[in-house]
Amino acid sequence: MKFPPGLLDEIRARLPVSEVVGKRVRLQKAGREWKGLSPFNAERSPSFFVNDQKGFFHDFSSGKHGDIFAFVMETEGVAFPEAVERLAGQAGVALPKISREAEEQERKVRGLNEVMQLAADFYRSQLEGRVGAKARAYCENRGLGPDVRERFGLGYSSAERHGLRDHLAGKGVSVGAMIETGLLVHGDDVAVPFDRFRDRLMFPIWDIRGRAIAFGGRALQADVPAKYLNSPETSLFHKGAVLYNHHNARKAAHERGTVIAVEGYVDVIAMSVAGFPHAVAPLGTALTPDQLTLLWRMTDEPILCFDGDKAGQRAAYRAIEVALPLLEPGKSLRFALLPEGQDPDDLARSGGGPAIARVLEGALPMAEVLWRRETEAGPLDTPERKAMLERRIRTLLAGVRDEDLRRHYRAEMDARMRELTPRGGGYGAGRPGGAYGGARPGAGAPARGGQRRGDPRRGGFGSEPMRASESLARSPLFSQAPTVSPREALILLALAAHRMLLATQAEALGELDLAHPDTNRLRQALVDIDAHLERGSATDVRAALEAQGLGPLLARLEAAVRPGDRWCLDSSADPDEVRESLRQATTLHHKARTLHKELGLAEMAFAQDESEASLAWIRDLRLQLSTIDGMEAEIEKLGRGDDPLAAND
Ligand code: UTP
Ligand code: MN
Repeated sequence: MKFPPGLLDEIRARLPVSEVVGKRVRLQKAGREWKGLSPFNAERSPSFFVNDQKGFFHDFSSGKHGDIFAFVMETEGVAFPEAVERLAGQAGVALPKISREAEEQERKVRGLNEVMQLAADFYRSQLEGRVGAKARAYCENRGLGPDVRERFGLGYSSAERHGLRDHLAGKGVSVGAMIETGLLVHGDDVAVPFDRFRDRLMFPIWDIRGRAIAFGGRALQADVPAKYLNSPETSLFHKGAVLYNHHNARKAAHERGTVIAVEGYVDVIAMSVAGFPHAVAPLGTALTPDQLTLLWRMTDEPILCFDGDKAGQRAAYRAIEVALPLLEPGKSLRFALLPEGQDPDDLARSGGGPAIARVLEGALPMAEVLWRRETEAGPLDTPERKAMLERRIRTLLAGVRDEDLRRHYRAEMDARMRELTPRGGGYGAGRPGGAYGGARPGAGAPARGGQRRGDPRRGGFGSEPMRASESLARSPLFSQAPTVSPREALILLALAAHRMLLATQAEALGELDLAHPDTNRLRQALVDIDAHLERGSATDVRAALEAQGLGPLLARLEAAVRPGDRWCLDSSADPDEVRESLRQATTLHHKARTLHKELGLAEMAFAQDESEASLAWIRDLRLQLSTIDGMEAEIEKLGRGDDPLAAND
């Protein structure tokens, strides 16, 4: 808001600073100035000064400094216009009708809206009139009959250079208003402004209240440079903050509890005709955060239904990146996958409402599409590739602002990552149809070609050199001689003490992720013994281990087992009970290992970016670790040294 020049000075002239401040702070005269206790800080001796001659206050305790308006804004927590309003009242200065200016603005916008409506009406009459014969034929050819044209206000801009301009001029619209609404092309190199849209099928774009604010124009010929031409940004139209068909879809979305975002104008119309009036589209750009917010205002889980081609897939993937930081519990996106090479318009024509309904029913949750995006690039058959995947996903998820949601996303991705671990065959062997557009039951979508990503953002991260922090170097993941985990020791020794358990669990034992060299050594020996010792008892196993010189190692491990668990090491203990204890221990072990690894990654991320997000990640992991019993000791150990949390908690 702009105040007329001189007004602020007049208020300042009428109101000494000491008078304004004096209402809040008890001031004492100090030479030519006033002083008092700072209103911004609790203090015993005055460090707050007011100088009426210079017209400012200065607070040494906080460094704040300013005039009467600043003082009111600071102490009353109001914005500038309101501070002016209050002080004008206090000074007895009449404010010019600020609302008159706003009214003026209103009126102008209303005027521009009217211009747009006049243009829309003109285009409509042209489409249905003599000059529109060719365009009407085009419409009929695309299944856009008279009702649809009417419902969506479709029109036609003729090939004439000044058709619209002359028509609007006849209605008393100024050339300035036509330029301001983007209807005319103008510029220094344009002698006479001329119609922007010529020989195009016109789609009016409405705001949320159904007022025309812009147009999209589709070329009727294939060889025209721009298939679609849209209005430029104007005071009415901010492309990134508008959804095509928003005002119609809003009500339908409310009734149906969902909303569908497609890519194009014609797609919206085709959806609507096929019985899905809750469809909207961005305006020829990738979905923006503003548009996502509009979608989420209509429903918790909008469905994105983009074209079944590379561009559509890219748009969907881009939408994920835009959406991730903005996600909140309950708010997400779903992704409906169209058959290869088709857009909603094609599908509606070939399969009608039922085909669309099937595609929408099969919409995938965001987590699934995110995973597909990250895993489709190639086989994940080596530790290096898996680690790379893990890091990419970590980095992406670090951007999720909502802490709870971030945790759940991590858990979900961890679970998927775990599924990757396999003997024989990488990711591809385990999960068919890994690509985003991969085979899905029901929809009959042929697999889309896997597409390589060339995301510069991610590339930048990957190419940065790793800097292991000291705290990282001390983390269990990196340290060379960690103390053996009681749980790990328990699992190994219990298997050594129960021949039958060892026989049945040997395979699982082979896959166990062990942190300590001692337990790794013992595992190797046990797997070996199991393979060679056909029969035999626990005593035989023990003897075989000792024959390999593992006596001292066994003693070390035994010492590590928690007293409460020692009974499991007794060969005469009930095998079923031992099995149950083992199962529990293995589950917890697995969890703890995963969390520890993630902690390593989190610390690495923190070492790199020192971000709040990484810190929150670390905090979250430690909390989870601490809830796994027996991990407290580990946590304590981690808490020492130059630990990022120690400094920040
Ligand atoms: P598409 O190229 O997918 O067009 O662009 P479409 O909707 O299938 O169009 P038809 O079926 O050939 O008529 C999707 C959207 O991208 C924007 C338009 O908003 C279009 O609806 N677009 C496309 C442009 O803004 N400019 C273009 O040149 C092309
Ligand atoms: Mn199309």
